[in-house]
Amino acid sequence: MRASPITLNRLRQMKEQGDKIVCLTAYDVSFARVLEQAGVDVILVGDTLGMVIQGHKTTVPVTMEDMMYHSQAVSRGMENALLMVDMPFMGCPTVDLALVNATRLMQAGAQVIKLEGSGVQLEIVTELARRSIPVCAHLGLQPQSVHKLGGYRVQGRDSAAAKAMLESAMALEKAGADLLLLECVPVELASEITESVAIPVIGIGAGVNCDGQVLVLQDLLGITPGKAPRFSKDFMHGADSIADAIGRYVADVRAGTFPGPEHAFS
Ligand code: KIV
Repeated sequence: MRASPITLNRLRQMKEQGDKIVCLTAYDVSFARVLEQAGVDVILVGDTLGMVIQGHKTTVPVTMEDMMYHSQAVSRGMENALLMVDMPFMGCPTVDLALVNATRLMQAGAQVIKLEGSGVQLEIVTELARRSIPVCAHLGLQPQSVHKLGGYRVQGRDSAAAKAMLESAMALEKAGADLLLLECVPVELASEITESVAIPVIGIGAGVNCDGQVLVLQDLLGITPGKAPRFSKDFMHGADSIADAIGRYVADVRAGTFPGPEHAFS
């Protein structure tokens, strides 16, 4: 465990110094403690809890009450990591509701609110930032839009989509986003976005050149049913305990050896 709390300034400093940021999901107090001990920098209470905890097929059914319940549980196990929490599906259809729901998540323990999308979200990011609510914007594959997208697919593959994503990233930074998460984005595009913005970029399925990495805990532990996503790795393989597996993930992200080319899209 580290000696001092992780702050947004510290994450920015890590980007500037080329030190990789380690992020991982957790949904309860026991795992929050294990992640703290392993030295994870950012703990994400992701709305993936709808799939890996509640057994839904998508993240769409997850409610504000679910997010608050799990955020409170995780926050009780936290010492020095930064707690990031997802705004659930339709948690911010208007600026007013975004402010109300972001307040509820912050009061449940969140230190950063993660929002999927750009476009209409720009005004919301601006207003949250004006009120000193830290925001992580989420671009690339946005699982809350799975029904519109027609499946979980790599995003930004053609040049028009890549240009639009780069422009969105820069607009979100200008609007006041503090962090950016890129999900399932070709490695070349993720690298270009990471170089083009000053805010730290955390990737999942976005290659090794992002400033940091995130995984869903259950994928890391190899207990996701069915075929594991290409970008994930079963760190239990060869590990002698859950804590050891999480420690190996932390070490590999810090060393830049995870993700490998086999976990990325080009
Ligand atoms: O909800 C979540 O766990 C996420 C990850 C896919 C990064 O957003």
